[in-house]
This record gives sequence, structure tokens and C-alpha cells, in this order.
Amino acid sequence: MFGNARLVAVVSYYTYMNTSLTSPSTATLLERYRDVRSFTEQLASRLSAEDQLVQSMPDVSPTKWHRAHVTWFFETFLLRPNLAGYEPIDPQYEYLFNSYYESVGDRQLRSERGLLSRPSNDEVQAYRKHVDAAMATLISGDFAERPDLVDLLHLGFHHEQQHQELLLMDIKHVFSRNVGHPVYAAEPDRSAANVPEFSWIEVEGGVVDIGCNVADVEFAFDNEGPKHQQVVPSFALGNRLVTNADWLRFVDDGGYTDARHWLSAGWSHINETGWNAPLYWEQCGGEWFVHTLHGFVPIDPAEPVVHVSYFEADAFARWAGGRLPTEAEWELAVGDRPTQGNLADSGHFHPVPATVVDHDGFTQLYGDVWEWTSSPYTAYPGFVVADGAVGEYNGKFMVNQQVLRGGCCATSPGHVRPTYRNFFPAHARWLFGGVRIARNVATPAPAPFPSAIFPSRDAETS
Ligand SMILES: [Fe+2]
Repeated sequence: MFGNARLVAVVSYYTYMNTSLTSPSTATLLERYRDVRSFTEQLASRLSAEDQLVQSMPDVSPTKWHRAHVTWFFETFLLRPNLAGYEPIDPQYEYLFNSYYESVGDRQLRSERGLLSRPSNDEVQAYRKHVDAAMATLISGDFAERPDLVDLLHLGFHHEQQHQELLLMDIKHVFSRNVGHPVYAAEPDRSAANVPEFSWIEVEGGVVDIGCNVADVEFAFDNEGPKHQQVVPSFALGNRLVTNADWLRFVDDGGYTDARHWLSAGWSHINETGWNAPLYWEQCGGEWFVHTLHGFVPIDPAEPVVHVSYFEADAFARWAGGRLPTEAEWELAVGDRPTQGNLADSGHFHPVPATVVDHDGFTQLYGDVWEWTSSPYTAYPGFVVADGAVGEYNGKFMVNQQVLRGGCCATSPGHVRPTYRNFFPAHARWLFGGVRIARNVATPAPAPFPSAIFPSRDAETS
């Protein structure tokens, strides 16, 4: 266990990134490997063995499974084919901890990962140590001179970071099903909120570069490329994220009961599920409370709203007289601003109110909540699925999902980029998904927008 201090982040990452496209040294790769692996263990160390086994719904994986699966990834794609004499600690793990790789073989059903009381937590710990020792041996050889292996290692790092976020999303859902609302971590002190009044920031469009060429950067997922041009008409983007106060207005205005705001599929879904508020909101004695990783607490109106689906985000944007941005608009607006924000190393594990206007008038472009976009998750022009098992990483999921941008309070530091494309189905809301609205500039802003819908904080409290 560890206390409320900021988590020990992957401190070497920024140094590592500064090596740019030069070959990383063996020492740098080893340090990075240890940093990523130890951050997973830090996150899991707050949880008992019992906590780590629970699977609260099919989309959720037990913490123990996450810890073993990311280990399996290094073992399967790096150790087995490249370390002479490598002996798996248990051949059965190839089946138990394969996620979705058809080319690797059969696997435990995703919906039945919570049945794996064995191997025990101690055995998973031993598995991690076994693979870590072998990886140290592999990396210490001529590894740094093999760009193909270094690329796979980077993929392993970012894969494990994705699972660090999943671990937090999943344990939050697990704890939400316990009436005692267990606390994952006490929240650190917050800075004083300074949420700016909502305003539109116009962004000049044009023919713009979107995405990146994977070969030009130290690491990007294949779905971020190729870099290509898109025509993006000028548009306006909200200066800040949609807050709980904004969302309460939507709720109180009958947002969940007025079909005019909703996509047909969204309207069907909320009527089937009975949704009338974001996931984890609960009304007690006439007041709204919310389940968080630091307990069950009253809603803070100044916080960015979180755990809304694409359906809800889209309906809110329409109700507010705007729309969701496309992913190209988001990427153009963000540009090369630094990827700083409330990420997992802050120790909040929850979005916090804006404190500073830090990006030329924008707040919270990175961190706090992933921002839903109106863009379907599809291949960029020229995208080719890679040969082999790693080709299954992204390409086969390019249907029936929406792109989100910007990272969240559960995203590991060093993981998110301007071109990073997260993706989830339109109904999913156990991820830390939130909203920043956009609008066209070819037409005038809807009167009396935005002041009537997004009053200033002072007006809210007066
Ligand atoms: Fe995975």
C-alpha cells in the first residue's frame, strides 16, 4: 500500500522522449521497462487479493488478470520468439491470459475471467517476476540494435499503460457494485477551482495535416497513421469541458426525456436501460451523489462531467445548441500544446475542476476526461494492417466505435499524444468519458447561447 502522495510516475519517460529518434540505450530501455511495470504494481497494491478477482460485468476484467495479461504480452511477442532457451513458468498461461489474439490461439472467455481463482495473486506475482527477469536478459543483449524489437518493446510499454487505465476503470466499476462504496484512494488536496465562464474559441480551418507517420515518431499506434490531409472548415470549440453544473441543467430541463435531442439508437438505449443521469450518479434525499475512486460523495458542480456515453454526449451537445467536435477538429485545435493535465500520477483518479486557463483560452485539453468526438473509428487513408499477431492490435476493431481524444484522470503519464485515438462503442460509459462541445461558425451562434445555458459560476451562486 502507499499513501496519498502523488504516485511515483514514470519519471524517466520525458528524458526518454527527448532522445527523439536516436537509438535508445540499453540502460534507457531497462529503466523504462522497470518504470512501466512498477506503476502497474503501484496501482494494484491498493487492492486486496479478493478485490483483484472480481469481474462485475463482461467488459470488466479482474485486476489480477490485467497484471498477468500485460505480462503475457511481453512473454508472447518478445520472449518466446527472441530469447533462446526461454522457459514459460506455466504453459497454461498462454490460454488464460490471451485477450483476443486469434493468431496466438484459443483463450479464456472474456466474460469468464472472473472465474480464475487460480493462479493465485502470489502466482501472478511470481509470473511477473519471471518475465521481468527474462526481459532484463533479453534487453541487455544486442536488443537496442534491433529496431524491430525496440518497436515491439514500445508497443508493450504502451499496451501495459492502456491496461493501467483499464485497471482503474474496472476496479471503479467493481467497487460501485458494493453498497459500502469501498475507497480505492483518499483524494489528495485540490487546488482552488477557477472554472471560466463558457465561451467559444474560433479555430481557423483549412487543408490540414491529421495523424502522424509512425516512422517519424518514437512511438505511435498504427491507427494514428498515416499522416494525411483533411479539409476542416473553420469551427468553434468550447473553451472548457462540460461540467456537472451544466449537466444538471440538462437533466433538470428534461434532457433524458425529450426525444428531439437524441440519436435514434441513443433514444432506444436510454429507454431500454432507464438511464436518467451519468453512470455512478445516484439521487439521495433529493441531492445527487456520485461514486468515485475516493468514495461516495456529493456532486461537485464545478467538476467536468464524466462517465457519459457517446449517446448522452451527443444529446447534450444538441440540447446546448452545438455538436460534438470531429477528431480532426480536436487535433487541429490542440496542435502541439503540451500533454499536461490531471493524469493518473496526480493521485486524484477523478476529474477535478479547472484551476487555470492554460492553453490560449482553453482549459483541460488533456487529462481529466476523454472527450467524445463525432468521428467513427475507421482507418485513415492508406492505413494497412500489419502482418502477424500485432496486426490484430487495432485494425480489427474499426467498426461501430467512436473516437475519443485527450486522455483522462486514469491515463498514465507519457501515454497520450495529440494524435492518440481512443475508441469505445457509443453506449459505453464505464470509461472516463466527458464532453467538450463544438459548433459551426458558418452560422451564427444560437441566441441567447451561451450565457443562458452556461452561466458564469458567479451567476450560478448568486
Ligand atoms: Fe491487452
